[in-house]
Amino acid sequence: LSGAAGTAGLAAGCGSDAEHHLAPPPLDLSTPLRIPPLLHPAPEPDGVRRYELIMFVGQSALLPGKPTTTWGFNGSYLGPTLRASRGDKVAMTVRNALPEASTVHWHGMRLPAAMDGGPHQLIPAGTRWTPTWTVDQPAATTWYHPHPHGATSQHVYRGLAGLFLIDDDQDAELPTAYGTDDIPLILQDKKLTDRGQLDGDPLKGPFGILGDRILVNGTYNPCFAVTTTRVRLRLLNASNARMYHLAFTDRRRFHLIGTDGGLLTAPVDTDTLDLTPGERAEILVEFAPGDNVVLRTLDRGLDIATGDLDLIRFVAAADLRPAPEPPAILPGPAPIVPPDGARVRHFTLSGRDGINGRPMDMSRIDEVVPVNAVEIWEIENSTDTSHNFHIHEVAFQVLDAAGRPTGGHKDTVFTPARTTVRLAVRFGPFDDPVEPYMYHCHLLRHEDAGMMGQFVTITPGTEHAVPRSYAGVG
Ligand code: C2O
Ligand code: CU
Repeated sequence: LSGAAGTAGLAAGCGSDAEHHLAPPPLDLSTPLRIPPLLHPAPEPDGVRRYELIMFVGQSALLPGKPTTTWGFNGSYLGPTLRASRGDKVAMTVRNALPEASTVHWHGMRLPAAMDGGPHQLIPAGTRWTPTWTVDQPAATTWYHPHPHGATSQHVYRGLAGLFLIDDDQDAELPTAYGTDDIPLILQDKKLTDRGQLDGDPLKGPFGILGDRILVNGTYNPCFAVTTTRVRLRLLNASNARMYHLAFTDRRRFHLIGTDGGLLTAPVDTDTLDLTPGERAEILVEFAPGDNVVLRTLDRGLDIATGDLDLIRFVAAADLRPAPEPPAILPGPAPIVPPDGARVRHFTLSGRDGINGRPMDMSRIDEVVPVNAVEIWEIENSTDTSHNFHIHEVAFQVLDAAGRPTGGHKDTVFTPARTTVRLAVRFGPFDDPVEPYMYHCHLLRHEDAGMMGQFVTITPGTEHAVPRSYAGVG
């Protein structure tokens, strides 16, 4: 990864953290929150929405007077918010103007494996990739980010990530004015050197970097001006390893209305929210005129959530436009109930050995799953440190002790040290015996180091015809 043009501050060997790391001064949380621009092209005569993304190296003003070299989509940091509705046909053109190969994975999207943007869909520098699919899933906050095997943590850390919002007509009773009362909050932690560069190497330490500066939508020290009595926040943890344990400084309560896979079936009243890397949540927060409140992350004493940090200030105007009451019920998807006799697969996260004792091998298919199956996946964290677990393409639900689905639909789940989490997993309809999907720890350092495996979904009864080694090209 060295030798990338224009990334001097990121290359290894620029000196140790201790010498060059610049500790953050106290924050006043006053910089207007950046809202990623919306990319929502009109359908063309053939009914297809066409999106263009270009990945390149740029300069960002994270600190005053000290431009930071960053990577972004269509801009120098992060990417535009893509938006499409259920039923839309989408066609992407992703150009790679980076100095090295990358990929773009649609995290949370239900789509054929060849369009998924995992490590096999490599986009060499100077080339483009043109996946197409039909959006067919409930309203949700999904996201996109690179997934080149072994380099995902670097590419995401430098800034490559964006949101992809999916709408469904059901959404109607919730705030939907993007940037006004429907606000994305992309949470990331960074370390900066005294020259204002992203500090060193996210591959250091047991988790990679846990930064001491929080960026929200790429804004350091941010503030959001509230203009309505209720705001919908779409939270994404796009950090490499940090877990957020979110709460407002005045401990005001809010409504959780959605998780990774879409809306819940009813709002949940709470005053804290946990998000591990890759997870999303949607919440409704009420404001009174003149409110001035900070959203923080609180220390939970966990290895991937270190310290209390301020994230963003909300300042409410003296006059707020009224917003509708939170609905008593929400149109989220029905619970995923595993059928009697559902197939159970067991996965042990075993530190340096990867999953089930084997580190990721691009040429090995680990699991073969029938299309449209509902299975129980048991994820056992046999280590003394935190991990989480993400499965591409699927929706799953956590099962409680009695085996009943609990919470909302998800695609990423926290797996604390020395625990087992049981999931009811619904697989998609996409039959492809060759191109695999990934499952992995979403602490990006761990994913890069091999805590990842591959599965294909195939027509039931054709298992015998599936090659157990990767037969694809690329
Ligand atoms: Cu968000 Cu396999 O990734
Ligand atoms: Cu992990």
